[in-house]
Amino acid sequence: APFWSESERVRNAIVDMLLAAEDGYVSGQAMSESLGITRTAVWKHLQHLMELGFAIEAVHGQGYRLRGHPDILMAPLLRRRLPSACRLGQDAVWVPRVDSTNALAWRCAREGAPHGLVVSAGEQTGGRGRHGRSWFSPQGGLWMSVLLRRPIPLSRAAEVTLLASVAVRRAIGETTGLWPGIKWPNDIVHHGRKLCGILAEIRADGEVVEQVVLGIGINANIPADAFPPELRRTATSVLAETGTPVDRLALAAALLAAFDPWLEALADDRPAFAELAEEWRAANVTLGRWVRVATPTRLLVGVAERVDDRGVLYIRTESGKVCAVHSGDVLF
Ligand code: BTN
Repeated sequence: APFWSESERVRNAIVDMLLAAEDGYVSGQAMSESLGITRTAVWKHLQHLMELGFAIEAVHGQGYRLRGHPDILMAPLLRRRLPSACRLGQDAVWVPRVDSTNALAWRCAREGAPHGLVVSAGEQTGGRGRHGRSWFSPQGGLWMSVLLRRPIPLSRAAEVTLLASVAVRRAIGETTGLWPGIKWPNDIVHHGRKLCGILAEIRADGEVVEQVVLGIGINANIPADAFPPELRRTATSVLAETGTPVDRLALAAALLAAFDPWLEALADDRPAFAELAEEWRAANVTLGRWVRVATPTRLLVGVAERVDDRGVLYIRTESGKVCAVHSGDVLF
């Protein structure tokens, strides 16, 4: 079975035709012939697209014209925002709501979806956070998962999320003017409150990572008062901080375009995080601070001293001993 639904494929083709016509009209007849479906079926798909927020004008005797589209990561919309050399995002699946885009991305992977597939949703009903936590995912956010099918040495897997956090920070900065901080390993924060979380789920074979589902949740256009009270002290959104909604297509395209070549470097076992370490350090809010770090096996308390070229964090504990942390959660 293909990883996309047939009606999704047809709707994407319709959007492609409308976009290709730019300001011109596409006749119902032309669509029906090129898609091999009836004109009634074409009309049903157009109606569905209008329900999703596409502004489609119908003029008798001329056909249909696109006057506007929603800010969602549908394949034809996302592809047009990406440089052609960027393999990430050339294929995309968008659904109005889903349990978790990470879970859906794994389902797509099982059906043979290609490297770079972007799965996103209007909202998630079971958004997953790190360490089995749940992730608040209402409408307005950018909830996306990228399927990575490049062999990456297992010893360098941690770099995937560090690189992604630099890409997210850059993308938020470029599209909104708000330059958030990075909290090791990969939280994007503004004045101590979280704007974005990253959850990489990895499938490895021996010493090689074969597949990664890289889940990125950006609190994009969520009004401040939409956060439940228990999250208000720890989470915020781009909209809440800047007062202006961000163009999610532009945000996603910027982050995918930045991340793509870094991922290729990792797959070729070339320096990746090392090249960005300076940018990471300039943005980081962790180093030099007294922290508690919950690692999978213990709780470390000390000063976050440095991060090396592979992204490993070093903590100097009270006894003066320096401990390397490969994964964990930093608490201030
Ligand atoms: C964290 O705990 O900081 C990670 C949060 C990751 C949330 C994103 S939203 C898109 C993707 N789908 C999920 O279910 N989780 C990730």
